[in-house]
Amino acid sequence: MSFLPTQRTMVALDNMDQAAVHAFLKTLPQDIPLVKIGLEQYLAGGRALVQEIHELYGKEIFLDLKLHDIPNTVAKAMTSLIGLPIKFLTVHLSGGKAMLEAAQEVREKHFKDLNILGVSYLTSLDQGDLKDLFNYEEDQVAEAFSRFFDLAQNTGTQGIVCSAFEAKHVAPRPLIKVCPGIRFQDEIGTANMGDQKRVMDPASAFKAGADYLVMGRSLTQAQNLEERIKELNGLNIA
Ligand code: C5P
Repeated sequence: MSFLPTQRTMVALDNMDQAAVHAFLKTLPQDIPLVKIGLEQYLAGGRALVQEIHELYGKEIFLDLKLHDIPNTVAKAMTSLIGLPIKFLTVHLSGGKAMLEAAQEVREKHFKDLNILGVSYLTSLDQGDLKDLFNYEEDQVAEAFSRFFDLAQNTGTQGIVCSAFEAKHVAPRPLIKVCPGIRFQDEIGTANMGDQKRVMDPASAFKAGADYLVMGRSLTQAQNLEERIKELNGLNIA
């Protein structure tokens, strides 16, 4: 692998008001070119926030809106994003083939550098929910994921958000794998796991096939952000 880990790490700007976002971005080294803005931030700050982050700090944006609606509505929602410096945008794969194709059509017409990422099942759903909602037994879940990955590939979706533990099941499909649920090695098993249950450290995640990592609290709440950035760049990911 011939990239610097920080070039493939996106910082999730969660649980911050706009003042906190600016305070954090002022301290975030240029090594990290990508930040993730979620629904909460976008609803509060809108297009202006996205533009501002791009213009003031030179960051490219992963807009994690997880769009999910009928094809026409998703297409129209995407047209309201035209002109924004977004490099990644999420949609729910469960919106189905026509919705995913409608999203691709808008992408091709209006966005030159955008990668649409599909979200499969939310990690907040446990086996009990999957049974209640879809009548899946535990041994049917892997196959259900695999159907989602096929759908992503067959609709020309550029990538997928998945746990690094799932990355090997996505291959050999040519999908970009963006993986959250990452903690530094020394945080694993400590209170810094927060609400994440299964996490992987950055080097292992890249080795497991992640193309990009999403890291939130490990960076936004780091005691020493610069040291963590150095740590990321010093990783052996070959
Ligand atoms: O702080 P932390 O690194 O746990 O944040 C992870 C980010 O990735 C959050 O923005 C979270 O919403 C997102 N995410 C996740 N698991 C998923 C999908 C997204 O943790 N399956």
